[in-house]
Amino acid sequence: MQHYTHINDLENLQEAVQEAITLKQEPLQFEQLGKGKTICLLFFNNSLRTRLSTQKAAQNLGMHTIVMNFGSEGWQLEYGDGVIMNQNKSEHVKEAAKVISQYCDIVAIRAFASLTNKEKDKQEEVLNNFIKYATIPVVNMESSVGHPLQALADAITLEEHKTSHKPKVVLSWAPHSKALPHAVANSFVQMMQLQDANFVITHPEGYELDPKITKNIPIEYNQQKAFENADFIYTKNWSSFNDYGKVLSQDKNWMITSKKMKETNNAKFMHCLPVRRNVVVADEVLDSKNSLTIEQANNRTFAAQIVLKKILNKLFS
Ligand code: CP
Repeated sequence: MQHYTHINDLENLQEAVQEAITLKQEPLQFEQLGKGKTICLLFFNNSLRTRLSTQKAAQNLGMHTIVMNFGSEGWQLEYGDGVIMNQNKSEHVKEAAKVISQYCDIVAIRAFASLTNKEKDKQEEVLNNFIKYATIPVVNMESSVGHPLQALADAITLEEHKTSHKPKVVLSWAPHSKALPHAVANSFVQMMQLQDANFVITHPEGYELDPKITKNIPIEYNQQKAFENADFIYTKNWSSFNDYGKVLSQDKNWMITSKKMKETNNAKFMHCLPVRRNVVVADEVLDSKNSLTIEQANNRTFAAQIVLKKILNKLFS
């Protein structure tokens, strides 16, 4: 694997999940693999889990890590070709990506969607320009369109907790006061398309995700109906895709409560975190024994470790 920008960059998701579950038993077993290698983590946006788990994963593989809050500490980057740079952008991504490639062996990037310009967000300007100009592998730590490290961690968590061969998994929209990106939901959908599962998406009308991503996944506008017989409820807020970046509804009736969870098949509750308590999900659900949120965050380390291991293996081959 050269870059990891999408869940489909994994040759075989099921094999990667099993590898991660095995690795979890003995996380330091490949600590010689990354010896003398350096990963640079560039954050254009905030993070808790991604930052710490990716650093931890790299360290478990013996790598050095350099972390930079590029959004607040780096020069403002220009991405356009042939631009006269006489405004507020101090450095072109062409130089920045090539310079970083001299210091590091892998670069990982977090750059969220603007949620103001759909076409620009779809172009993944930051991620794709680093892929274009860097001479080292690039890892997506959440871009405008996807969060494949989260999706791999979620696949590991599903595998560890499923009790039937073909579980019912529901991706449920929930309310939020701010406009949030589609990246986590998109990558979860793309990951579920590689699973043997009964997968349903539920959200209020107007919150359809990009149909090029959801394809033929069933959408149920009645949350109660969607929850019937569910084994996993994966909850996430996202803003409208059609009315791009808009908050169309903050309907409290979509919040996940224990009453709703009782309508399921004793479902496990999942959320990528951070989560707003008693807005997205009630305390009673988040604090219940069926909540897998802390384990999902734990699995971020092993998801990142499998990805970095595959990239290092390719570098050495
Ligand atoms: N789930 C996730 O990516 O968390 P952070 O935004 O804290 O990294």
